[in-house]
Amino acid sequence: MDPDRPTALLRGKRFVLGVTGSIAAFKAVGLLRTLKSHGASVSVVMTNSATKFVTPLTFEVLSGEPVTTDLFQAHEEMKHLTVPDGAHAVIVAPATANVLAKAAVGLADDVLSTMLLTTRCPLIVAPAMDGGMWEHPTVVEHVRTLRSRGVVVLDPEVGPLASGQIAQGRLAAESRIIDAVQNALALQADWLGQRVLVSAGPTQEAIDPVRFISNRSSGKMGYAIAEAARDRGAKVVLVTGPTALTPPSGVEVVPVVSAHEMADALSRHFDWATVVIMAAAVADFRPKDRADHKLKKSGRTAFSLELETAPDILSMLSARRTTQILVGFAAETERLIAHATAKLTAKGLDMIVGNDVTKEGAGFGSDDNAAVILTRSGGQKEFAVMPKRRLADAILTEVLGVGSVGQPSSIATE
Ligand code: CTP
Repeated sequence: MDPDRPTALLRGKRFVLGVTGSIAAFKAVGLLRTLKSHGASVSVVMTNSATKFVTPLTFEVLSGEPVTTDLFQAHEEMKHLTVPDGAHAVIVAPATANVLAKAAVGLADDVLSTMLLTTRCPLIVAPAMDGGMWEHPTVVEHVRTLRSRGVVVLDPEVGPLASGQIAQGRLAAESRIIDAVQNALALQADWLGQRVLVSAGPTQEAIDPVRFISNRSSGKMGYAIAEAARDRGAKVVLVTGPTALTPPSGVEVVPVVSAHEMADALSRHFDWATVVIMAAAVADFRPKDRADHKLKKSGRTAFSLELETAPDILSMLSARRTTQILVGFAAETERLIAHATAKLTAKGLDMIVGNDVTKEGAGFGSDDNAAVILTRSGGQKEFAVMPKRRLADAILTEVLGVGSVGQPSSIATE
């Protein structure tokens, strides 16, 4: 734990601590005591196998609260099946490969996994498992799924395991778990009061009623930003081109198709917004004429399409901004920094998120992304490949660092 970090973040907070059947279950006792010593209240939920390692009585005495272990016992008082309304975070430590799998696929066959399906507050998971399991493709996949949903999954540590092997599988040190909890709490409300306008996905520019010009954007980055901003307390409007993604709850979603429609929707919400994040891949050109009927190939051996420019939405918004912070994206295939810097200046942005879409495991369609964030004041920060949701959080944290969020932008007066 960072010794200088105020533990005030933990004081008065309410946590649910899930303990599962790993030899490291005894370490959850120490974690509980530390949380309590910082003034938090903790209710413990144990899986059946966890009770083979540590008795519920130990947690009951130390937490001063009844421990829930049994789904059917919990059924009698239905409230124990769901995370209490006032809970600030759910911590699962140690988490077995089994509970990771259940959480990833939504199985609810015991009290802890049932409760995880009702978790709406931050969820911090500290896995512990025997050698080799952490690297198993199934576990890797489940961890990836959970992280992509915003769950904080701590990497276990390398060291001697119960089996005698030396491998990555030891429960993260208590200080790392406490730090992760504090980070989650700090993030929880740092966008409170902000009104965020996010664009996502591709646009489609019609050629005729059945054909269009579009691009490979999946919308995942923009949706991840919208969800992260919502989770951190912001009000969010998401203007989205056509995607295969599920609309996020708790966010106003405005579906659009073309660049013109996207420009209209963003313009309508612009005065309301304090921050605008343009993650959409907007068409630069559109067919000059849209045929009313399906174009026929009969008799043609070649076909050319005349294109005209589509509105440059960011430049348009930048020209009429008052106090809004403007963040753009630059998806590039070469000379990333040079192109991103040029766009930052040309479009009058506060920040631009540049990404090399040719990078393996990142970019269009992928669940992961890497980026370089450039700011108007000359800042430059690189972010290695990580789940889009984590990158979304990193971007939001950087936006707050731009300063003057919600204040008149100095650019507006330049
Ligand atoms: N953008 C926009 N309107 C457009 C095109 C792009 O608002 N018609 C926004 C994108 O949402 C992104 C930023 O501008 O945030 C940069 O988009 P990009 O397509 O990389 O840049 P372009 O200006 O289109 O430049 P080029 O196509 O030459 O790379």
